[in-house]
Amino acid sequence: MGNGIAHVFAMSGFTVRLVETGSQLADKALATIDKNLSRMVEKGKISEDEKDASLKRISTDTNLADGVNKADLVIEAIPEIFDLKKKVFATIDEHAPDHAILASNTSSISITKLAECTKRPGQFIGMHFFNPVPVMKLVEVINGMKTESNVTKRILDLSDKLGKVAVPANDSPGFVSNRVLMPMINEAIFCVYEGVAKPEDIDSIMTLGMAHPMGPLRLADFIGLDVCLDILDVLYEGFKDPKYRPCPLLVKMVDAGMLGDKTGEGFFSY
Ligand code: CAA
Repeated sequence: MGNGIAHVFAMSGFTVRLVETGSQLADKALATIDKNLSRMVEKGKISEDEKDASLKRISTDTNLADGVNKADLVIEAIPEIFDLKKKVFATIDEHAPDHAILASNTSSISITKLAECTKRPGQFIGMHFFNPVPVMKLVEVINGMKTESNVTKRILDLSDKLGKVAVPANDSPGFVSNRVLMPMINEAIFCVYEGVAKPEDIDSIMTLGMAHPMGPLRLADFIGLDVCLDILDVLYEGFKDPKYRPCPLLVKMVDAGMLGDKTGEGFFSY
């Protein structure tokens, strides 16, 4: 998600500092952006010059404090673990300029709760992108309880400049996108668990019958089974409602390190 976000900002003319935990990961992110920009050149969507100019706008850093110290906007896209985000936002808050807006790309964690990890909850907002970020039009914009209205307006205007469509949602577990999407994915996993149908058949039913571009199990692999489980846990804990209980098969697959595309093995092999 992070490299996709950097890609769209750079393509829209913004200077981007991409912060990773190590130089190898930073190089990998740049290589992915290069590959995805080349794909857009091949499709005739951008010119070779536009690709080069976009890449020149991105620099990398492996030190978070240095990486954010000149930022006007910081977008966090780290794993869906509240304690990790809390730690990272404390560092960002300490080192980012006072005027900077802090945003989280979280897919489910409370924006109000994350905002309180900083001394600037009024300048904190949810900016939820969708994978693949250069392709998907939506940005789900989530206000925390204290988000100031001028901050929301600036993020809505900015989303427009990125060529995205910003749609507001209130701060509630999973917001709208994952509150609707994850129960569908979880139910598809229960269908495998209970032997209702084979994974490829479940996906065929949803692609051919419901015109979804990807079946729910292919999509779960694409998102990452660990991410799906993290989001379902947030829904389950947040609502205290058993309808969000993660399927035991999903838990077992994550325990086995079968996380989908990123590990080569999930409901399908890659
Ligand atoms: N960067 C740039 N362009 C990309 C790209 C990338 N990473 N990935 C795909 N594309 C482009 C391709 O170049 C292609 O462009 P054209 O239409 O101009 O030819 C187009 O996207 C379609 O790609 P492909 O032809 O390679 O493959 P496809 O037709 O099978 O589409 C897909 C791939 C766009 C991923 C499509 O299957 C799809 O829309 N899937 C559903 C994705 C989805 O639901 N995403 C949301 C997940 S939830 C999430 O992200 C948030 C969360 O909180 C969990």
